[in-house]
Amino acid sequence: MLKIAPSILSADFAALGSDVERVDTAGADYIHIDVMDGQFVPRITIGSDVVKALRRHTKKTFDVHLMVERPENQIDSFADAGADIISFHVEAAQHGHRIVQAIHGRGLKAAIALNPGTPAVMAEPFMEEVDMILVMTVNPGFGGQKFIPSTLKKIRQIREMIIASGRSIELEVDGGVNADTAKLVVDAGADVLVAGSAVFGAKDLAGAIRSIRVV
Ligand code: DX5
Ligand code: ZN
Repeated sequence: MLKIAPSILSADFAALGSDVERVDTAGADYIHIDVMDGQFVPRITIGSDVVKALRRHTKKTFDVHLMVERPENQIDSFADAGADIISFHVEAAQHGHRIVQAIHGRGLKAAIALNPGTPAVMAEPFMEEVDMILVMTVNPGFGGQKFIPSTLKKIRQIREMIIASGRSIELEVDGGVNADTAKLVVDAGADVLVAGSAVFGAKDLAGAIRSIRVV
């Protein structure tokens, strides 16, 4: 079952509460929240206090994507704020399994994220632990970038690794996803699609989500 996770990075930051409600009503499965620290990526976006404030605007799953150095320092505050899934980047993690354990220890789902330049094999040590793997299809840091086609091969590799693991691990794809690229990533094995500009850039949010929800 394909899930659509609109990224509020492309929402109106002066009206985040109502934009979260709009995208909830429009049929979002997850609300994707991009946390950037100005270190792992150049920009600074949303902190845990904002997530906490948004929590009363929707009951949908909060899919928190940490694009930060030292992700281990952020688990408790985002768990307290109401995150349901926390993803951290393997490129930023010195002790990845400890971070997965910390996320699980808070009763949340844990995911690892891979930059476009990071090979699929970096996910291998986590296959017995994680609930989701996030394959970046642009370099993280900004919304509205162009999908990188060479990431399709990695999506296929990760799908094969998930099948081989025998576990139910979600495969999320993030960056440059729109009605056209959605078909490509789903064919390659993705089952959770993040979309920022393709959803919030549209007047009709529900129509935009439907157009990405390819079968
Ligand atoms: C990029 C973020 C993405 C971003 C996607 O650093 O992780 O979640 O919001 O935006 P689009 O869909 O516009 O590429
Ligand atoms: Zn993201």
